[in-house]
Amino acid sequence: MCGIVAYIGHREAYPVVLKGLKRLEYRGYDSTGVALLNGGSLKVYKKKGKVAELEDFVLGKDLKSHISIGHTRWATHGEPNDRNAHPQLSGDGKLAMVHNGIIENYAQLKQELLNKGHQFTSDTDTEVLIHFIQEIKSSNQCSTEEAVRIALKRVVGAYVILIVDEDDPDTLIAARKGSPLVIGVGKGEHFLASDASPIVEYTKEVVYVNDYEIAIVKADELILKNISNEIQTPYIQKLDMELAAIEKGGYAHFMLKEIFEQPQTIFDSLRGRLDAKGGKLTLGGLREHMDLLKEANRIIIVACGTSWHAGLVAEYMIEELCRIPVEVEYASEFRYRNPVVGKGDVIIAVSQSGETADTLVAMESAKEKGAIILGVCNVVGSSIARLSNGGVYTHAGPEIGVASTKAFTAQLAVLSLIGLKIAQEKGTITAQRFQHLLDELESVSEKVATALQLNAQIKKIAEKYKDARDFLYLGRGYNFPIALEGALKLKEISYIHAEGYPAAEMKHGPIALVDEQLPVVFVATKDSYYEKIVSNIQEIKARKGKVLAVTTEGDQVIPAMADDVIVVPEADELVAPIISVIPLQLLAYHIGVLKGYDVDKPRNLAKSVTVE
Ligand code: G6P
Repeated sequence: MCGIVAYIGHREAYPVVLKGLKRLEYRGYDSTGVALLNGGSLKVYKKKGKVAELEDFVLGKDLKSHISIGHTRWATHGEPNDRNAHPQLSGDGKLAMVHNGIIENYAQLKQELLNKGHQFTSDTDTEVLIHFIQEIKSSNQCSTEEAVRIALKRVVGAYVILIVDEDDPDTLIAARKGSPLVIGVGKGEHFLASDASPIVEYTKEVVYVNDYEIAIVKADELILKNISNEIQTPYIQKLDMELAAIEKGGYAHFMLKEIFEQPQTIFDSLRGRLDAKGGKLTLGGLREHMDLLKEANRIIIVACGTSWHAGLVAEYMIEELCRIPVEVEYASEFRYRNPVVGKGDVIIAVSQSGETADTLVAMESAKEKGAIILGVCNVVGSSIARLSNGGVYTHAGPEIGVASTKAFTAQLAVLSLIGLKIAQEKGTITAQRFQHLLDELESVSEKVATALQLNAQIKKIAEKYKDARDFLYLGRGYNFPIALEGALKLKEISYIHAEGYPAAEMKHGPIALVDEQLPVVFVATKDSYYEKIVSNIQEIKARKGKVLAVTTEGDQVIPAMADDVIVVPEADELVAPIISVIPLQLLAYHIGVLKGYDVDKPRNLAKSVTVE
C-alpha cells in the first residue's frame, strides 16, 4: 500500500527518490509523484500509473534539487488519477505533502476549511490535511513545524506524512501515527521511507520513528519531538538487511526467488533456537511470558491473509501439543465485534509486515482489555513488533513479491517452535515426542529443498491446467489451512477463482461444482487423516472431477486414482504443511506467469495493507 520516500542532502535528490519509489513498488500502488525544492521554487510532478510513466513524464523537465519527497499511492479517497496522486499542495501552493494512511475525520475538517473559503482540486483526505496545516500556519502566524503539531492533535486516523515548505527549503518535516516511517542517517544526508528498502544501499544506520513523533530533518541534523514539543533522543539502530535481499539476483521474479530461498529462510527462522542434537529449544522473546502462556485460559491468534492461514495451522498444533484452547481470528472481525477477551488470554499477532492496520488495531484493543500480546513478525522494528509485549521474529528476510511465500513457511516454523516450547514447559508432551519433533524440524529445510526440485514437473502441470476457470483445493487436519493457502495463492496471482475447503465439508456444497472441467487439488500427504482423504478423492473421481494430488513418497494408493500427482518427502503431520505448501506456491506462480500476469505486483493487491 502507499509508499513514501524522501531525500535531503548533498546528492541530486530526484534520482534517489525515483529509485526509492521503484524499491517501494512491491507494496502495491496505482499512481505516483514527486515534489522537488530548488531554493525557493517548488515543483510537483505526478501521474496515474507506474513509476516508469512518471519517469517518462518528467523527461526534459527541471529536476534540480537536493530535497525531495515522493509517493506511490494506493487509492482510498478518490479514484487513481493525476489529480488525486500525491504530493498534494496547500491552498497557497507553498507546502507539498505526501501521505500514507487515512484521515478519518477529513470530511469534518474539509467542511471547516470550505467555510473559510478553501478550494480543493482533488478528492483526497491528504489535500484536506495540508490545507488544514497551512490554515493553522497562517492564522497562528507560526512555523510549519508548529502548525503540523497543532493539526495532528485534531487528526483522527493513521498516517505518516512528509512535508516540504517553499519558504524553508532546507528542512523536511515528517510525522507518524500508525503507519511506518524509517529515517536513514547518512553523512550530511538523510533518507526517509516507509520501509528500509530504499535506504539500505546508502546507509545501515536507521531510526524508526514512533507514533506521535515529529521529525525535523535537515541535511546534517535530525531533531525528533513528541506531539507536546518535547525533544526525543533518536535511537539509531543498525539495519540487518543486505542490498542483495531486495534484488532479483538472476530470478525472473521476486516471487520465484523467494520460493527458492525457503530452505535457507526456514533454516534462519530456526537458527539459534532449535538445538535438536542437544534436545533444546530457546525462545528468548517468550521467556518472561512463559508462566502466563502455561497458565493461559486461551490463546487467540489474530492475523490477516496468508498469516491467518499460518495461524490456523498453529491452532491445530498448539491445541494438540499444549492442551490450551486456541481461536484464530480475522483481525478485522475480532476488532469490531466486541470480543470477550481479557486477563488470562494471550494474543498472538502473526504478520509478515508488522504493519497491517487491522492486526494492529485488534492488538491495541485486546491490550486495553488486559490481554498479553505476543508478536510473530518478519519485519524487525515494525509497529506490531513494537506494540507486542514479547514475541519471536521469523527472520525470513525482506519479502518483495506481493504473494507471501517464504514469510509463510517461516511463520509455520516459528509457530511450531512456540507450540513445542509451551508444551515442554507445561509438561503436555513426552520427552520422546518432543525430541522427535525437534528432529523433524531440523530436517525440514532439506525436505523443502527436495520439494523445490519438482519445479519443472509443476510447470508442466501448470500448462495443462492454466485455462481452467475455477479450482477447488481440499485438505484435512494440518493440511486444511494449506488448501486455503494454495487457493489464495492461485487467486492472488493468476486471477482464477479458487476455493479452499476442508475435504469432508466439500460434500456440503462445493461438490455441486464438480464436473470434468473442474481441477480439484488435494493436499493428501500421509497423516492421521489419510484414509479419510482417500475416500474424498474417490468422491470427486466418481463425479469425473480432475484430481491433482500432493502426496507423500511411497504412497501407491493415491497415484492410482489421481490424474496428476506431485510427490513430496514424508514428514510428521505437524511439520508436513511447511513442505506441502511448496508445490502449491509453484503451481500458482507458473499459472500466473503462463497467463502473462505480473506475479510480483498483482492487480489491486498491496503487500502491506495499512488501512482498516
Ligand atoms: C496483504 C498481503 C498478503 C498478506 C496480508 C497480511 O493482503 O498481500 O500477502 O498475507 O496482507 O499481511 P501481514 O503483513 O500482516 O502478514
